[in-house]
Amino acid sequence: MNKIYLWGVVIVAAMLGFTYVSVLGSKGGLNGDIINLLTVLAAAALVVITVFVVIKYVRQMQVDTATGELADENWDGIGEYNNNVPFGWAILFLGTMVWGMWYFLVGYPLNAFSQIGQYNEEVAAHDKKFEKKYASITGDRLVEMGESVYLAECKVCHGLSADGIDGKAANLNERLAAKSVKDVIEHGSNNHLLGFENPMPDRNGLMNANKDYAPITDAEIDTVAAYVANGMSGAGGDVFAGVCSSCHGADGKGIDGVAPDIAAFTPKLVVDVLKHGKKGAIGAMPAFDRLNEKQKEAVGAYVTSLSK
Ligand code: HEC
Ligand code: HEC
Repeated sequence: MNKIYLWGVVIVAAMLGFTYVSVLGSKGGLNGDIINLLTVLAAAALVVITVFVVIKYVRQMQVDTATGELADENWDGIGEYNNNVPFGWAILFLGTMVWGMWYFLVGYPLNAFSQIGQYNEEVAAHDKKFEKKYASITGDRLVEMGESVYLAECKVCHGLSADGIDGKAANLNERLAAKSVKDVIEHGSNNHLLGFENPMPDRNGLMNANKDYAPITDAEIDTVAAYVANGMSGAGGDVFAGVCSSCHGADGKGIDGVAPDIAAFTPKLVVDVLKHGKKGAIGAMPAFDRLNEKQKEAVGAYVTSLSK
């Protein structure tokens, strides 16, 4: 008999021995339970089958020789047999493709239940309830609600006292820093601050395209930036009146549909920042889709109250 069968018998005997010791040798044993008995019998059968199936294939590797017709091509003497694709394998392959198309078009992703969909529906339903329940809140209570949203969502970047944490985010206690105003005049911006796309002209871009375009000099930019950052006061008022007021209004409070308020925060401006995010001299502020309309309104009221 081949040595490998002997090993098989030894391994089976050893594993059955362990099974015997751990089950029948322990306190309680099978406990007279038919399910326990069946489980042990199944374990024994698995041991025997596994060992002898492995032996069968090891033997086959030892004695089998390859048969069949070689394909014409070979690579450095390494050839390939001209075998047909196994029938079962081909059926499985085609079946997987058909199932894949069914799954994509009819199955889960397009039509069926999804946890994400359920979550979104529940959030939408809850937001509706929330907005209905708090619809009548205005004034100081709206600002309080906004403060609690601020503490949960905005504090991480803008800081507990909304000072922007050393320039990491915008300081919300003032409408605009001179650095931001300067950046916007030089490079323009298109942050949907009016609620829709309407860009502030990109001075440097326009100057590069057309050498004669010179609406404002660098020195004028510095003075007007200081003027805006100062709450629309000090030197630079004449530049503002000449270059900016046609869009932003004489007092900088903006013109509906033309240019936003740059003198003070308004709830609508903050809500537009929350809806579309904002990119500027300091960095990028993400949009806040997860807040519902009432929460956006409230945090808008809160931010507006900070600089008053
Ligand atoms: C042609 C009209 C127009 C003119 C002229 C104009 N602006 Fe603007 N400005 C806009 C628009 C529109 C926006 C909003 C852009 C956006 O949504 O990002 C804007 C945005 C800004 C912002 C950004 C506000 C924020 O919250 O980030 C600042 C600051 C600003 N303008 C300052 C100025 C100054 C200062 C001048 C004069 C030197 C000026 N603008 C001239 C149309 C104009
Ligand atoms: C991931 C950090 C981050 C979070 C969170 C964040 N912001 Fe901002 N926010 C910024 C940055 C950075 C800017 C400055 C963008 C720029 O360069 O002008 C900014 C700008 C703003 C502006 C515009 C200020 C201006 O003068 O134009 C407002 C308003 C604002 N954030 C409100 C909020 C509110 C309200 C929340 C909470 C719901 C919030 N932010 C959460 C990073 C953040």
